[in-house]
Amino acid sequence: MTTMDRTRTPETRVIDRSQHAAAEQADVIAAIEPLFSRIAPALPPVQFTGTTGARYNMGAGQPDPASLPRRELAETVASLLASDDGPAALMYGDAAGFLGLREVLAEKLKHWDHIEVTPEEFLVVNGSNHGLAVVAQAFVNPGEVAIVESPTFMGGLRPLRQLQARIEMVPLDEHGMRVDALEERLRSLRAAGTPAKLVYTIPNFHNPAGVDLSLDRRQRLAELAGEFDFVILEDDAYGELRFSGESLPSIFSLAPRGRVVRSATLSKILAAGLRVGYLIGAQEVLARLNALKLDGGASPFTNRVAARWLTAHHDEHVRRLIDIYRRKRDALIAGLESGFAPGESLKPQWHVPDGGFFLWLKLPEGVDPTTVSRAAANRGVAYVPGPAFFADGSGQEYLRLAWSMLSEDDLRTAGRLVAEAIHEAA
Ligand SMILES: Cc1ncc(COP(=O)(O)O)c(C=O)c1O
Repeated sequence: MTTMDRTRTPETRVIDRSQHAAAEQADVIAAIEPLFSRIAPALPPVQFTGTTGARYNMGAGQPDPASLPRRELAETVASLLASDDGPAALMYGDAAGFLGLREVLAEKLKHWDHIEVTPEEFLVVNGSNHGLAVVAQAFVNPGEVAIVESPTFMGGLRPLRQLQARIEMVPLDEHGMRVDALEERLRSLRAAGTPAKLVYTIPNFHNPAGVDLSLDRRQRLAELAGEFDFVILEDDAYGELRFSGESLPSIFSLAPRGRVVRSATLSKILAAGLRVGYLIGAQEVLARLNALKLDGGASPFTNRVAARWLTAHHDEHVRRLIDIYRRKRDALIAGLESGFAPGESLKPQWHVPDGGFFLWLKLPEGVDPTTVSRAAANRGVAYVPGPAFFADGSGQEYLRLAWSMLSEDDLRTAGRLVAEAIHEAA
């Protein structure tokens, strides 16, 4: 690249292009349209509102920018690169992830989640979105049945859609997935000769619903996996961020090894930009998943940075984050509450989550969600509308507010503005 190129802005480049070149490109794009594979057009557009310019952006589950440990990370990177391990950080590494990171994570899981796993029972992935996709690919062929919660996280839905799986939805209530409804569905699917192969669940501070899966449901789900012969994909992206209530055992630790692949991430407790997630499971299962992973291996650089940072700072930082996010949750709820008179019928319903990033609102009947969205946008408020979280595109009456990114003051204002938008729509 020349010096001149470097100083050019992207806008200049677009303006510089001749109309002829633009027309030629349009022709090429039209010509290659039939060349796309079947799954490329099947992907729905990603609903990622985290980059909107909204003043009060409660769209994406982004970590709090102010709490990112930038100085610690800068020091960690500098000392890593200056160390004897520096060259290894910049070369190809173990596809399963840096062994040192897997060792640190095994210790962390033992102390924080009471999960006993060896470093060999880890597969480090490029963010847990990547891990969820690899697990889906490993177990589901086109047309085969995978079961998800209704609502669920788009990152779990997307790979199943891409694989052209038959996606079945099981409802949630305030105690998590309705495991009784799941059992019924499993029975009828088996009777129809189309058994479910994978069940995807988010047991802690559900995204988007904010609920926890109760202990008896976790136990029953673990039993059902054996009875109906399927694999559970347990997605625990927020487990460390518990503000209140009791930590419950993971489904992974309640089921025989091999039945569950558990996914987790450093995105919410360290930095989403590092793209470090990890799967745990039986070694034999992880070997199959590893062979499917075509990413050139987990990054030796970010894995080493993460390992060093976790060793030095994890416990203290997570304790700090718990306090920060609890206050944010409370500020958002206080803002919303302040916008409604006691007992007012327009007040949406919500469950107060014991942790995580999200508040899930159910609008009262007769309030048009599209009008609420527009009224909120006019006030500078962005959030994700409910249908993004339902495999069949239903759920218009819901909306998800992420409290993670905004300051407490902004959350109080944003909550009040959402209430105003609901009043205006009504
Ligand atoms: C439930 C759940 N799982 C997985 C992820 C993916 O996180 P990442 O790919 O950054 O690890 C998220 C992020 O929003 C999430 O909410």
